[in-house]
Amino acid sequence: MVDSRLFCHHARFHARRLSTIDFPRHPRVLLPTHGLATGGSQLSTLNSQLLPVIAVAAMSLNRVIGRDNKIPWHLPEDFKWFKKLTTGSLVLMGRKTFESLGRPLPNRTNIVVTRDPEHLARDPRFMAIFSGPNEGRWQVRTESPSQTDFASLTDRDVWLVRDPRELAEAFEKARLPRELFVIGGAQIYAQLLDRCTDLYLSVVQREVEGDAHFPAFEETWSLHDTPLTTPDFIVHHYRNKRDASATSQASRQGAAEAGETK
Ligand SMILES: NC(=O)c1ccc[n+]([C@@H]2O[C@H](COP(=O)([O-])OP(=O)(O)OC[C@H]3O[C@@H](n4cnc5c(N)ncnc54)[C@H](OP(=O)(O)O)[C@@H]3O)[C@@H](O)[C@H]2O)c1
Repeated sequence: MVDSRLFCHHARFHARRLSTIDFPRHPRVLLPTHGLATGGSQLSTLNSQLLPVIAVAAMSLNRVIGRDNKIPWHLPEDFKWFKKLTTGSLVLMGRKTFESLGRPLPNRTNIVVTRDPEHLARDPRFMAIFSGPNEGRWQVRTESPSQTDFASLTDRDVWLVRDPRELAEAFEKARLPRELFVIGGAQIYAQLLDRCTDLYLSVVQREVEGDAHFPAFEETWSLHDTPLTTPDFIVHHYRNKRDASATSQASRQGAAEAGETK
């Protein structure tokens, strides 16, 4: 059974986010054309059975996303895009990506995946992030996703979780009016990309050396639009084809039901 509230949320998300992005100086910008946002038919609004779990990544032409636990380019406009896209939401990342950031991302609930949350929460190097000027600014939590009231999560939380798939499942059940962004690194994309509904991929227009790569995804995703083009990188928005097959199934079911009531 398709829950149209989820779709409405999904469509509103994309319209709201993309229409408020401050674009860089000379980009070619294509605004989104989602069914609901553009006044599509009732059936075309039955888009998704899935809550938006959205992957965001930047990769080079040769699929590199990182080197020595850092991002091997400096593109302020891409950071700006990422910040606008994810602010106010939940961001999920691997422990190594969190370490490479060196601090929680502000104004977002930071979820960090690690095989031993309790150990990490006792690690002095990790806890040093929350002392000094950060004293009291962040709250570290370690409860399991199945025991968490998602509505209680705030933008001050850094939540350490053991199982990324359990987290994604619990998030989908919680039906929050906030999006979950999967922000890397390579291990986390490899494990969670198939659960994501959307992917915003910045393709950096050069080849670089690296030791972390974006997984192959092209066969199971379709290009939806290209919301941002700059000389240094192009943002492509893909949709998971399993989402699209849920749409056409829902459309067929809706059409059959409409036929029955004629
Ligand atoms: N270009 C981009 O868009 C982008 C985005 C993000 C990151 N990056 C880059 O990607 C690189 C980091 O990626 P990475 O693959 O090395 O590391 P990662 O995915 O960020 O983190 C890996 C860690 O996550 C935890 N983990 C992974 N799978 C788990 C599971 N199933 N259950 C529990 N914990 C799990 C483990 O932490 P524990 O060891 O603590 O158990 C593991 O060591 C860096 O170079 C970074 O700069 C690039």
